[in-house]
Amino acid sequence: MAEPARQIQFGVFFQGVNFSTVWHWPESGSQTDYESFRRVAQTAERGLFSAFFLGEGLRLREHFGKIHDLDVVGRHDAMTLLAALAGVTDRIGLAATLSCTFNDPADLAYRLGSLHLLSDGRAAWNMVTTHNAWTGENFRRGGYLDAEDRYTHAESFVKAVFAIWDAWQGEIADRRDATAWADIQHPLAIQDEYYDIEVPRLLPPVPGGRPVTFQAGDSAEGREFAVRHANVIFSAHPEITDALAFAEDIRARSRAAGRPEHDLKTFPGQSFILADTLAEAQEKARYVQESQVTPETAVKYLENFWGRDLSEYDPDGPFPDADPVVQVTGSTRGSGFQLAKSQELAKTWRAIATEKNLTLREFVIHQTGQGIGRGLIGTPVSVADEIAQYVERHAVDGFNITPWLVPGGIDDIVNDLVPELQNRGIYRTAYEGETLRDIFGIPADSPSFAPVPAGIL
Ligand SMILES: Cc1cc2nc3c(=O)[nH]c(=O)nc-3n(C[C@H](O)[C@H](O)[C@H](O)COP(=O)(O)O)c2cc1C
Repeated sequence: MAEPARQIQFGVFFQGVNFSTVWHWPESGSQTDYESFRRVAQTAERGLFSAFFLGEGLRLREHFGKIHDLDVVGRHDAMTLLAALAGVTDRIGLAATLSCTFNDPADLAYRLGSLHLLSDGRAAWNMVTTHNAWTGENFRRGGYLDAEDRYTHAESFVKAVFAIWDAWQGEIADRRDATAWADIQHPLAIQDEYYDIEVPRLLPPVPGGRPVTFQAGDSAEGREFAVRHANVIFSAHPEITDALAFAEDIRARSRAAGRPEHDLKTFPGQSFILADTLAEAQEKARYVQESQVTPETAVKYLENFWGRDLSEYDPDGPFPDADPVVQVTGSTRGSGFQLAKSQELAKTWRAIATEKNLTLREFVIHQTGQGIGRGLIGTPVSVADEIAQYVERHAVDGFNITPWLVPGGIDDIVNDLVPELQNRGIYRTAYEGETLRDIFGIPADSPSFAPVPAGIL
């Protein structure tokens, strides 16, 4: 497969529950009103973005048994929200993060297939493998998946979903004829270690076939899973050297798996701060960071991973010397990591704080991706020059932009940065093709769309 034309694509990641969006500024809108979503999605489409992207949190973050009061709470169901946005947009992709762990394959295939159909082929699925007990407590079946089993289960889950979508591709002789429907409705039987289900056909064929798939999860297993099944990786590696190392790792894994090396795209999350001069942009960045990570937020951020009260620590003092609590994650623990992983994390983070001589709060600013030197900060011209470097070195295929202000946070990107990129020939000037697969530049013969081999089901 030929190397793709060197351009950058953008998605917008409307975060919802988080503290990196500044919600208390006069220009800030609501994080739950439909108007905020409509405005961001339509602005992104005006800027020819590839996708409007939603994360998933099936349980609001909690802190020592209470809703995390430093987070903004409230997050809509992605599918409902994207269906509403499908009606007010025409071309932009509509991407939903949906956990393999806490959904059922037939139900997910049906709901996302409906979105894909109603939006004329614009749906995308971010296939995450959330496995924490804290989310699991929300579900009647109880418990949660062991960390070691998250990708084994996800493998079975995505194969079932893909097989269902593939089985629904055949055209129906006459869609108005009930007997023509009856003819094609033979249930698909899926049996493996995790599933024993029979799924009848519920939808006509979907334009462009399966929805585009994203993957987000950084372990070696997660990357291999992406190489087998995803079209795009939403990564947490935005800085250029790191982004390039990540992309090279994915290209090497793709080659080893027999997949063309540019077939799987990398889209790290990225934040932008633009202003008329470099000095103004730096000043704005400092102000935004301080609004995002207040002294209180910094301590609570660490507590969420540590599982213990760290209020005795001065946010402007050294990184805590206390270790995380070692216990099975409970609802007091928020979305933080578990058991040994917390211990490892504490060690790594302490080493970074020591090496860079960061206070507790400075470390959190650094860690949450907003630190000095992180994110693209400058004038539209200087940032376009930086992006040209990413394109030139093929460090990324795109950025999933996380605006720090909603709903106006991508206005300057669309109005001022996109034209700079277009002038350099590194950003599209019109949407390509018919479906989201065309917009991402994924060929129909991509191995990621290969039918699920017989014998697996
Ligand atoms: C950039 C990024 C975004 C993610 N977004 C979500 C999300 O919105 N919802 C979710 O449940 N998990 C999300 N995840 C978590 C992953 O799905 C996965 O469960 C976790 O990273 C553990 O897998 P790993 O060990 O391969 O990293 C995200 C992960 C990354 C790296």
